[in-house]
Amino acid sequence: MTVAAPVDVRLILEHQDPAGAYPASPSFSQYPHAWLRDGSFVAYAMDRAGLHESAARFHTWVARTVLRYEDHVETSITASHRGEAPEEFDFLPARFGVDGSWRRDGWPNFQLDGYGHWLWSLAEHRRLAPGREDTHALDRAAALVGRYLVAFWHEPCYDAWEEYRSQLHTATLASLHAGIATLQDAASVPGAADAVAAIHATITNECVVAGRFVKHIGNPAVDASLLWLATPFGVLPEHDARVRATVEEIERTLVVDGGVTRYAADTFYGGGAWILLTAWLGWYHARAGDRSRARACLAWIERQRDADGALPEQVPTSRTNERFLRHWTTRWGASAKPLLWSHAMALVLRLELAGD
Ligand code: BGC
Repeated sequence: MTVAAPVDVRLILEHQDPAGAYPASPSFSQYPHAWLRDGSFVAYAMDRAGLHESAARFHTWVARTVLRYEDHVETSITASHRGEAPEEFDFLPARFGVDGSWRRDGWPNFQLDGYGHWLWSLAEHRRLAPGREDTHALDRAAALVGRYLVAFWHEPCYDAWEEYRSQLHTATLASLHAGIATLQDAASVPGAADAVAAIHATITNECVVAGRFVKHIGNPAVDASLLWLATPFGVLPEHDARVRATVEEIERTLVVDGGVTRYAADTFYGGGAWILLTAWLGWYHARAGDRSRARACLAWIERQRDADGALPEQVPTSRTNERFLRHWTTRWGASAKPLLWSHAMALVLRLELAGD
């Protein structure tokens, strides 16, 4: 099988801002900004590929950015202790300008998962590249984010697809579990261990219907982001019966023409197949021991590259709704390409399969 790792690494490095931010898709009208969700997985991929300097720069940028808003975050945390919720646009944003600016442009910003992803990615960075940079700012920023998540993890918020504001999403809870767990022994984050236990109980008691996990509490459909529960967050192991049943349902209902769509009712760009989610399914199978299915996912991804090796966010499938594809293409242009998160997940899957 062709390995195109250099393209993924080259595009990520080429587009990383010198100060450390990874813009989601620099040439796409809506994605020049740096999402914590995308960036955290890009940094993880770079660490897996041994490019620790790139990941270190990202983490240092996040720490500096978050600490810039420290007073603001402290005010929100204090309000939560009084039982008050911050105003909608006072919650930390899902994305920042690459210069660390908080863009007050009405984006559906209240998405907690990215902050969980960042804590998880930072812990992975420290595991994979120990003792590399001054940890003071990183520790302070991580503790601040940890206390913020302990205060707000149970608030309904937008999901990883920036939708469904009023729900509690299983994949978001998994992300918060993973992030807060990295700090559960930190004296600077009181209540972390209790929060981790409470999130685990919420996931296993309220996010399971008929023996498998659901998109959000009250919605029995599956969403491909449910893969995160096991891979990589390990809230439950890959072989857990509920996880397996969830993956089977994802494969039955969301895999179309070999690629993985987000959820059955998705209309964004007609509901196409996502590169990063197909990589995720492959990553799950590789970790669960089914390497031939993992290789099939990688082969599908390789077929989606353009002549320069660039990967988009999503590609149309035989089930794509043309009306919605037209709507979004007219509004925003063709699907974002290159999407750095797509390249990162392709890289992770390829590294996971290295040696095959
Ligand atoms: C996706 C998010 C992603 C953002 C930037 C949105 O369309 O739903 O998950 O973080 O694009 O890539």
